[in-house]
Amino acid sequence: MNEPLKPAASGPDQSVADSEKAASRVKKLQEELTDHSYRYHVLDDPIISDAEYDRMLKELVALEEEYPHLSTDDSPTKRVGAPPLDAFETADHRVPMLSLDNAFDTDDIQEFSKRILRMLKSDQQVLFTAEPKLDGVAVELTYENGVLIQATTRGDGVTGEVITRNVRTIASVPLKLNASERSDIPEHLDVRGEVIIRQNGFETLNQERARNNEPLFANPRNAAAGSLRQLDSRITAQRPLDIFVYGVGFISGTGYATQEEMLLALKSFGFPVNEHIQYAVNLDAVISFYTRLEGIRDTLEYEIDGMVVKVDDIAIQQELGQKIKSPRWAIAWKFPAMEETTIIRDIRVQVGRTGTLTPVAILDPVSIAGVTVSRATLHNMDEITRKDIRIHDTVLVMRAGDVIPKVVKVITEKRDGNEIMFQMPESCPVCDGPVRRVEDEAAARCTNFSCPAQLKERLRHFVSKKGLDVDGLGTRLVDQLVEEGLLTAFGDVFTLDRHRLVGLERMGDKSADNLIQAVREAKNTTLRRFLFALGIDHVGENAARLLSQTFGTIEEIMAAPFDDIQAIHGMGDKSAMAVVEFFKNPENQAMVRRILESGVVLENDSMASEEQEESAFSGKTVVLTGTLETIKRGEAKALLEQKGAMVTSGVSKKTDWVIAGTKAGSKLDKARTLGINILDEQAFLKMLGT
Ligand code: IVH
Repeated sequence: MNEPLKPAASGPDQSVADSEKAASRVKKLQEELTDHSYRYHVLDDPIISDAEYDRMLKELVALEEEYPHLSTDDSPTKRVGAPPLDAFETADHRVPMLSLDNAFDTDDIQEFSKRILRMLKSDQQVLFTAEPKLDGVAVELTYENGVLIQATTRGDGVTGEVITRNVRTIASVPLKLNASERSDIPEHLDVRGEVIIRQNGFETLNQERARNNEPLFANPRNAAAGSLRQLDSRITAQRPLDIFVYGVGFISGTGYATQEEMLLALKSFGFPVNEHIQYAVNLDAVISFYTRLEGIRDTLEYEIDGMVVKVDDIAIQQELGQKIKSPRWAIAWKFPAMEETTIIRDIRVQVGRTGTLTPVAILDPVSIAGVTVSRATLHNMDEITRKDIRIHDTVLVMRAGDVIPKVVKVITEKRDGNEIMFQMPESCPVCDGPVRRVEDEAAARCTNFSCPAQLKERLRHFVSKKGLDVDGLGTRLVDQLVEEGLLTAFGDVFTLDRHRLVGLERMGDKSADNLIQAVREAKNTTLRRFLFALGIDHVGENAARLLSQTFGTIEEIMAAPFDDIQAIHGMGDKSAMAVVEFFKNPENQAMVRRILESGVVLENDSMASEEQEESAFSGKTVVLTGTLETIKRGEAKALLEQKGAMVTSGVSKKTDWVIAGTKAGSKLDKARTLGINILDEQAFLKMLGT
């Protein structure tokens, strides 16, 4: 890397020389930063650190401030945003931006294909390209001689709003096109694509807005639209916007022969093109691709609401032409909606293991993409107030992946005056104990440690698979034993009396014997499992493992001062505090003692930690993808980091290992293409030494 420029010295010759030097330095910085940004945001393969990038950018900003004529439109400094506009100007699209007809099932798609074959005079074979239908905001990007000069919204299809300054802040939009071996850069090129916000960026954005008491965005598409329509592009620059391009409008020169050729050319110019595209295939392949795409829908980091099917051959596209608003050569095959409207019949309050009261909406059952939904979480009172949710409201409910359905918003137009405001109960709905609102937390909690609802939840956790793993002691039986008064504390599990069990409903001799046997087996357990089973706040599997590795015995842990626990690498302050608090409590000390006295043996199963640190993962770059069944993603990450690995989000040539859970999608595909080592969950846990 070059030396930064020295401060300008005086004298006319000197200043000419300086300004020439500045010009060449600026050019070099602009080029290098453009390349690094492309590597980072589009290729997912950075070769310098973020800090180094920031240093170079800072130097460039300073130089462009000193020599404003060097600050070109395509300079990476333009990504940071500019002072606000009064209003957006408008501009016509050289070629109108059409919309698409919809298809909802295979019949519609077959009809679409038949119509095309009927219209074409010859009986040539027609191939299709099928792409995800991205659920974002359509934009048009205009490049002249490879430089981005204008960006517009779709508007009414003929005229759009000019949002160039905002679009320049989107890191994955090339401000200048890469020269490409595949295709010459046209003098004029209008590129079309969809601006999106990824799921994790959307969640972070909304959390921030909640903290600042700003209204939340209902979904990533609204968030993207709102962000693009900011008059102050410095705000847009803060938003996690991204883009995929899918076509061109006006283009000078000869153009492209097929959709495939066009997308590959765009990719070579530096545009992000979606990776789940099926190029030039027959109708049967289109139909089976739909099922595949629908299958990976939940695993994608961004929202798609269907698949766009396009005739691949552009000459045939032109022959088919268009109707007033939509082309005849393309169609949007929609996925079943993940959102439906229904009515809230009631709001009930559930009590969790730590006493947290969670309001839950009881809904008129509604089928959402094939799954019947009759409950939705309302999270907490703040959320209810923010969204102004009332009993009897008609609401929009969303189901995404396997997470609990949630209420997106109230359809206030449907209110008829019979809605009832909800209030959190002042006492626990289960035990009538006092409820406390935790400072800095939105949650309200029942403070009665022996509340039956909490007790049930704690016991379920205590005996669960990842806890002490008492075979056959499931949710229903725990509830029954609590209700019958046979379980009032953890220790009771180990002193269950066979005679009393046999007397219970649905419990025969055999079941009672099995349970007693399972309890006996569960007595030989490990320190790690036991610590996890206790259900101490902020102590998950990872913290439990760290504690057992570090201290080795329960006595050591119970006596450990805060500083010693907090000093463990990978242990959070909150967890450390919670452990100390938990064992400081004499009742908890007595509880542990009673369990040990009933014959529970806590073996220390952790390997010597020094050996573990020198693991196969030391110094390696690892990517986690898909759903892990037995360990939380965050815990897996913490463990890997503890073993000296660097955990990154994107797969690149630099990646050493990809750990693929179920439903792993594009990252796994990419890892296979690049020939990177792939581990499934079993193999991963084995390598970790669990
Ligand atoms: S092609 C004439 N491809 O869907 C061709 N559109 O309903 C029209 N969209 O306004 C566009 N993903 O915003 C095309 N892969 C994709 C798309 C896509 C999303 C949006 C686009 C368009 C709307 C049409």
